[in-house]
Amino acid sequence: MAERIVSTGRGGTGKSTFVALASRYLRPPMLLVDLDPDESLADMLGFDLEKQGISTISDKLYDILEAAKRGRPGPVSALERMSSIIKKDCLYRKNDTMDLIVLGTKLTKGCYCTPDDILKAVIPKMADRYSSVVIDSPAGLEHLNRKVFSEVDDFFIILDPSSKSLQHVGRVKDITRELKIEYENFYLLANYRFDQGSQEYLESSSETFLGKIESDPSVEEHNLIGKSLLELPEDSPACISVKELLEKVKLLNSGRGKRPL
Ligand SMILES: Nc1ncnc2c1ncn2[C@@H]1O[C@H](COP(=O)(O)OP(=O)(O)O)[C@@H](O)[C@H]1O
Ligand SMILES: [Mg+2]
Repeated sequence: MAERIVSTGRGGTGKSTFVALASRYLRPPMLLVDLDPDESLADMLGFDLEKQGISTISDKLYDILEAAKRGRPGPVSALERMSSIIKKDCLYRKNDTMDLIVLGTKLTKGCYCTPDDILKAVIPKMADRYSSVVIDSPAGLEHLNRKVFSEVDDFFIILDPSSKSLQHVGRVKDITRELKIEYENFYLLANYRFDQGSQEYLESSSETFLGKIESDPSVEEHNLIGKSLLELPEDSPACISVKELLEKVKLLNSGRGKRPL
């Protein structure tokens, strides 16, 4: 069973950067799922989807829904048909270690309900083939995890130093209750904008505060020029801190008798 990980937080706190950097240290093979209509994760990883002929789920929505309709009476189930289109057309594969699925931007008006439903049906089934599945959430909490997983192993809440960010923690908990999402671990992370004083505030929180993702000019520079965060030097401050934070999670999770990340 894959470790089901969700990165969430307010807009611009560093959720996608965290997922991109965490992918360097999680146990392969892993599946990364970009649920943000901004679609920034592929860029951060230096994955050129277009060049590889990979579509987003939204791009393939029509084909997927048609396959689902055709699937009903025949021997092949709707789910299998949808899965095979997604695997064939929407799965970016890097070596045998990292796969990426992007939800994409819906061009028609309305909510993401249908693509959400597709992901909810397909991703948990695909998860068995991976050691970890990491969801990069969009900023709006109503879309938290887009209900892809009803059970999450590790929630990472990326916080910026603002009172709104702390309210966000409470709202994430409320939403998980409303959406009936169960979770094993709930980890708070201070983003690169925290200073010592505001960090101490988090340390006194009743939630598990893991630590801070260090500020790193080379992250900004890589993002600015479109260079992959997978090429960031191993000794860069952001890499060192994310690696250490995940080591801490491994320790905490193994203390709870869980398989290491
Ligand atoms: N550790 C860091 N050091 C410096 N800048 C960072 C760091 N993490 C993220 N950023 C910058 O913050 C901005 C928002 O990051 P991003 O990961 O896109 O946030 P989100 O996914 O939450 O919207 C980006 O411009 C990114 O370069
Ligand atoms: Mg993002």
